[in-house]
Amino acid sequence: MQKRNELYRGKAKTVFHTDDPELLILEFRNDTSAFDGEKIEQLDRKGEVNNKFNHFIMNHLEQAGVKTQVNALLSDTESLVKKLDMIPVECVVRNVAAGSLCRRLGVEEGMTLNPPTFEFFLKNDALHDPMINDYHIISFGWASEAQIAGMKALTFKVNDVLTQLFDQGDMILVDYKLEFGVDNEGNIVLGDEFTPDGCRLWDKTTRNKMDKDRFRQGLGSVVETYIEVANRLGLAL
Ligand code: TMP
Repeated sequence: MQKRNELYRGKAKTVFHTDDPELLILEFRNDTSAFDGEKIEQLDRKGEVNNKFNHFIMNHLEQAGVKTQVNALLSDTESLVKKLDMIPVECVVRNVAAGSLCRRLGVEEGMTLNPPTFEFFLKNDALHDPMINDYHIISFGWASEAQIAGMKALTFKVNDVLTQLFDQGDMILVDYKLEFGVDNEGNIVLGDEFTPDGCRLWDKTTRNKMDKDRFRQGLGSVVETYIEVANRLGLAL
């Protein structure tokens, strides 16, 4: 398998073609972005930590029956993934109120949401990822009704699996964002990444933030804390 030209450069990852039209390479860079790219910094080892963390989580999800894009770990900062036709929406599940939910609805951070709530956002930095609903997705042709149902079911299945996993490491999975794509057989497959960059994790006892809020809020020890999250799950980094 040969690495070929760049297909797409995102804020934290770069996607490369390979000589196999069905496979791509995801490179996790040290770039760390917040507020739709307004704040960007390079954090030592973050690419490596997120690449290995993502591989670990995606494998765990595969074992629980969730189809993912991940194929193999190629190097410290690169993973081989299946090519998907990505759906341009972000699926967010929230177990505890935080972030934009608190700003939008005026609810207090830390309130437990029972049942967990679900939101769609349009993946569009220029528009600051606006919240959208099922009807927008269908009217604009971003996904079909069946694909919407599939994305919701998988996002909640991921919640069941990962809430339990993080709980075993004494962490609360507060919220997270997933992105899906369609493979060449028409299946909805989990793509992009699952790392502390795209979720909120709090220590169960102290409620200390162990995710990208450390970077957004300038709390420091960002990568060190991501490594601690990994270590608590049994992944030595
Ligand atoms: P929010 O509170 O800012 O709406 O974010 C909810 C969750 O989704 C949080 O874990 C961060 C994650 N997220 C991303 O990773 N990227 C994004 O572009 C957005 C909007 C949210």
